[in-house]
Amino acid sequence: MVKSDSLHSVSKKFEHFIKAGNAHSLHSPFLFDLYNKLVKSNLPLPEREVIQNLRKDLASNHTLIQKKDFGTGKNGEFKVSSMYKSGACDPISGKLLFNTRRNFPGKALELGTQLGVATAHLALADPENLLISIEACPETHHLAKQGLEERIGLGNLRLINDKVEAQLDALKAEKFSLIYFDANHSKEATLNYANALWSTRMNDSFWFFDDIHWSKGMTQAWEELKTWEGVRYSVDFGKMGLLGFREEMLPQHYRLRP
Ligand SMILES: C[S@@+](CC[C@H](N)C(=O)[O-])C[C@H]1O[C@@H](n2cnc3c(N)ncnc32)[C@H](O)[C@@H]1O
Repeated sequence: MVKSDSLHSVSKKFEHFIKAGNAHSLHSPFLFDLYNKLVKSNLPLPEREVIQNLRKDLASNHTLIQKKDFGTGKNGEFKVSSMYKSGACDPISGKLLFNTRRNFPGKALELGTQLGVATAHLALADPENLLISIEACPETHHLAKQGLEERIGLGNLRLINDKVEAQLDALKAEKFSLIYFDANHSKEATLNYANALWSTRMNDSFWFFDDIHWSKGMTQAWEELKTWEGVRYSVDFGKMGLLGFREEMLPQHYRLRP
């Protein structure tokens, strides 16, 4: 691993860029710009307030719902508050998703809506473009729909209650600026989703994967995805991973503390 001295002089915080390979590409203006846009900016106050209220509502909602989880297989009665704690998007991941879509707007897709926390970040970031989000569990989908459409009043959403696998064929015909892969966290499902949605990517698309180091299988999936022909850069943010496809870049792989 190489740490660049000249990079250090550009920005002290930018020293968190660590790469395996030659040091020249550390000067990539695209990645420097990406770092500033995605990591350094906080959510604007109005959107931050909406998200904070949604988080408060979910954290204090102790209603039991019947959960069918096609990812973990953990079915049964769960409190909304426990589901929020264990599965909803954390503020750092939320910031990365929000900032990406705010700076690079366009149609987006989320696999795994759950209670709609990441969905809210993505939808608030880009009110002009459609966000499709898919959730298999009917009661979870219903709760997310209430929170996002009725309470927050978001209108740029298509919330689908179905298994991701059943929607992949229809989604293949679309083009997405951003995809957030956060449904079934197994190696096989992750690679299957990525493979099925390969045709939807554009030169400037952003593909985020959650929990890339959550299990051996997820780390294997992440490492495999990075080697796919057409993947031009990857950023390992610790919990989330980002893949990009910009043809003008030589393949580069980074780790960055968000
Ligand atoms: C980790 S949670 C998603 C969290 C949400 N994206 C966020 O960041 O706030 C994963 C969700 O994906 C759903 N899920 C798992 N496998 C699925 C599948 N095959 N099809 C549709 N939904 C699935 C689960 O029911 C669960 O609600």
